[in-house]
Amino acid sequence: MTPVLTKRKPTTKRAPAKKKTAPKRGAKKQTAAQNAKAKLYAGLVVQLMSLLKGEYDFIANAANFSALLFNSLPNVNWAGFYFLRGEELVLGPFQGNPACVRIPMGTGVCGVAAQQCETIIVPNVHEFPGHIACDVASNSEIVVPLFDGERLLGVLDLDSTIIGRFDDQDAEGLNELVTVFVGHEEGLIE
Ligand code: SME
Repeated sequence: MTPVLTKRKPTTKRAPAKKKTAPKRGAKKQTAAQNAKAKLYAGLVVQLMSLLKGEYDFIANAANFSALLFNSLPNVNWAGFYFLRGEELVLGPFQGNPACVRIPMGTGVCGVAAQQCETIIVPNVHEFPGHIACDVASNSEIVVPLFDGERLLGVLDLDSTIIGRFDDQDAEGLNELVTVFVGHEEGLIE
């Protein structure tokens, strides 16, 4: 199948997972957790903007962005980029264990997110067909595509050892951060 690289879908796909039924008593606690996460991402936007300010080297900025995510987000064991090179994704700046260098479009979580041009949350990577296990400790994953306008640049990939670590709030927060990052780099990307 020819990958569609130009259509941006602002949707987030969630891989199938067992439904959770949250008890009513936990509702207040969940809101507090959501508030904390919203604050965390708002703070990260400020920190990212500060890191990017006055610096226009794409690799350096991507490296600092991955380090910011890796060190600020709890329970993340890998955070980094894969950039589109022809018909495959190639490893970019990251934090975590050494990872596979090349991922064909449509393969693994990264390749599927890139091909479908949408954020993918995988609560349990062991249930995702074709998942590429770079770090055996990883149990959940989120992949956010990067766009320069309509053009796909690559993906941001985060892994966690915790099952169900990433939710829609993470998708929203990471998409906002990626928008800040790409907006800053716009025009400098070949
Ligand atoms: N798990 C990814 C591969 C990249 S690593 O997680 C760093 C995937 O399935 O595409």
